[in-house]
Amino acid sequence: MIYVPYVPTPYSVVRAMLKLANASTEDVVYDLGCGDGRIVLVAAKEFSVKKAVGIEKDPERYKLALTRVREEGLEDRVEIKLGDFFEESISDATIVTLFLLTSVNEMLKPKFERELKPGTRIVSHEFRIPGWKPEKVVDVRDENGLSHVIYLYVIGRHL
Ligand SMILES: C[S@@+](CC[C@H](N)C(=O)[O-])C[C@H]1O[C@@H](n2cnc3c(N)ncnc32)[C@H](O)[C@@H]1O
Repeated sequence: MIYVPYVPTPYSVVRAMLKLANASTEDVVYDLGCGDGRIVLVAAKEFSVKKAVGIEKDPERYKLALTRVREEGLEDRVEIKLGDFFEESISDATIVTLFLLTSVNEMLKPKFERELKPGTRIVSHEFRIPGWKPEKVVDVRDENGLSHVIYLYVIGRHL
């Protein structure tokens, strides 16, 4: 199994990703490898999504994310699961967020094609989904002026 290190997405980039995906009250957002839970928390707090699910296999990060959800009182809309995202169903997602590696995105392609409905948006920070056609590629600056690329894919229009 490929090791993906923990590096958080800067908050300005989190917001840009959710904006690019046009996240709103009708959406169910999944962050695969949710780290401290920041993407699912911002999705619920600032974009008022119906439901947000973070999946994290590192027990320490999982505990941290869960604590943050409880502190914010968002347990009714934000769920944090301890586990391997390859093993968890994501079939009710309307938006999937990623900050992994190109090689891991490649491995996720069959799962996405099997489980995700047409129209589901996938937003990936920094790493493309190899062989898929992005709907949009956006360059954003973070709080420190550093440049980040985000890729938007839409299931059904990705080939
Ligand atoms: C680069 S960090 C991104 C964290 C968060 N999504 C963000 O953007 O701030 C990647 C995270 O994915 C987790 N991860 C890697 N492979 C995983 C897997 N197969 N199942 C669940 N979590 C995984 C790592 O433990 C790490 O916390």
